[in-house]
Amino acid sequence: MFTLQRKTALVTGAGRGIGRAIAETLARYGANVMVNDLDIEPAEETAAAIGARGASFAGDVTDPAFPQALVDATLETFGSLDIIVNNAGYTWDNVIQKTTDEQFEAMLKIHLTAPFRILRAASGWIRETAKREAAEGVRITRKVVNITSIAGTDGNPGQAGYSSGKAGVVGLTKTMSKEWGRYNVTVNAVGFGIIETRLTQPLAGEAASIDVQGRKIAVGVQPAVLDWVKKACPLGRMGTPEEAANAVLFFCSPLSDYVSGEVLICGGGLHF
Ligand SMILES: NC(=O)c1ccc[n+]([C@@H]2O[C@H](COP(=O)([O-])OP(=O)(O)OC[C@H]3O[C@@H](n4cnc5c(N)ncnc54)[C@H](O)[C@@H]3O)[C@@H](O)[C@H]2O)c1
Repeated sequence: MFTLQRKTALVTGAGRGIGRAIAETLARYGANVMVNDLDIEPAEETAAAIGARGASFAGDVTDPAFPQALVDATLETFGSLDIIVNNAGYTWDNVIQKTTDEQFEAMLKIHLTAPFRILRAASGWIRETAKREAAEGVRITRKVVNITSIAGTDGNPGQAGYSSGKAGVVGLTKTMSKEWGRYNVTVNAVGFGIIETRLTQPLAGEAASIDVQGRKIAVGVQPAVLDWVKKACPLGRMGTPEEAANAVLFFCSPLSDYVSGEVLICGGGLHF
């Protein structure tokens, strides 16, 4: 049995899908949760579903000034920051010859630069707090979980940008586990296989699209690929956002206090 009571978590991209399931799961275990999303309404909905322990701070994590504002708002609202989950993300796919510079760089910005800036924004408070706690003779373990993908660990055709961002965040994870071990912060990554969210909805007729900074970006997966996933995945199905959140919960809980710098693949055994 463990509790996350008196812990404060910050979850990016928590208005929908896996991020929302992570935010709700952490709250169910007792954590206060600052819910971030690009879109205001979904962020507010997640915070409202959490109730008294939830708050929202909407905004774009790729805006260079935003990560510090998000960290400061979390500290102002809850007075602490114990768990950071860098989850916000989307896909913008194409074969390399059709991938523009803007498209490739957008994938690095959301999946790698934004997590870097959020951790850098939190570093001052984390260092000072850990030093104070050490002087008082207490050890409090804090948690960072960066979200990656089997596209990052295995590669995936049509995802040069996405897979590079998702591989890059593994390097960030391993380096931060070494920089922040002395502050009792475990830094790990969870890489998903195929989880049922709007990013993996079957493409049918008109392509589904998401709105990112005023631009419509097609998302979804060809039905033939989804059929292949069911055959290739040892568990024979896609995962649910709740199953994805449970893997993240492990790295946010005391059960993983002596695990750092690792990548856990939550994909029903699927590899590309
Ligand atoms: N669904 C899968 O199969 C799968 C597989 C591997 C990895 N992932 C990763 O899991 C994470 C969550 O994806 P999901 O499937 O739940 O997608 P989703 O689209 O359901 O949710 C992602 C959320 O992130 C938000 N977001 C996007 N850009 C943002 C920005 N700039 N600032 C703040 N918020 C932003 C979106 O508004 C959305 O609410 C992503 O990092 C994704 O790459 C998903």
